[in-house]
Amino acid sequence: MASISPVEIAPSILAADFASLGDAIRAVERGGARILHVDVMDGHFVPNISIGVPVVASLRKATQLTLDVHLMIENPERYIDAFAEAGADMISVHQEATPHLHRAVHAIKEHGCRAGVVVNPATPVSTLTEILPDVDYALVMSVNPGFGGQSFIPGAIEKIAQLRQMRSGYTRTFRIEVDGGIGPDTVASVVRAGAEILVAGTSVFHSPDPEAAVRGLQRLASEAVLQRV
Ligand code: DX5
Ligand code: ZN
Repeated sequence: MASISPVEIAPSILAADFASLGDAIRAVERGGARILHVDVMDGHFVPNISIGVPVVASLRKATQLTLDVHLMIENPERYIDAFAEAGADMISVHQEATPHLHRAVHAIKEHGCRAGVVVNPATPVSTLTEILPDVDYALVMSVNPGFGGQSFIPGAIEKIAQLRQMRSGYTRTFRIEVDGGIGPDTVASVVRAGAEILVAGTSVFHSPDPEAAVRGLQRLASEAVLQRV
């Protein structure tokens, strides 16, 4: 029997106009988004610098949406307190960014936030075996982190399917998120594989109508859920 689980679109504000973030948020709220993805980059773990703690604090005042903070930073455990106190609801850390993944995940949970672990395209999901029972979500990068607007890497589909398979062996469950190159052409394949939270930056905010773009992705995702095997 097909497994039916709700799929959510998480617009990534990395692709929005930073001078008009309030307008961008209102548009995706009208489109039905419930999660807002916030990309934090430090110029070390990834070759780009983006958003920091004060922006998350401002977003918290501007919206009730779930704030999904994706830390693309080295030694993320140093900043978990600050992002949690700024109002993050979900915080994810890269497997590759810290030798203390377990400590980082538990620090996130101690703040009452949902904890996520992220893998880059070249990192096997098998490296997550020991941490998966402790996380609330696992995020598969379908591009190399650091920039929006890149092409989807098809190898992510198999990794999503593997995570879904691994999940059946755990008593505690986690959700599966995918990030990078998600748009009308890629939604169905990642949802069929098992993705449940779809991050979408360019395909939402570079669209002439972000509200309609969220609705369109949501519709495609909901159709694809029914095709899961
Ligand atoms: C990439 C970021 C993504 C990015 C996705 O490093 O983690 O969240 O915003 O952008 P698109 O949807 O344009 O690939
Ligand atoms: Zn991201």
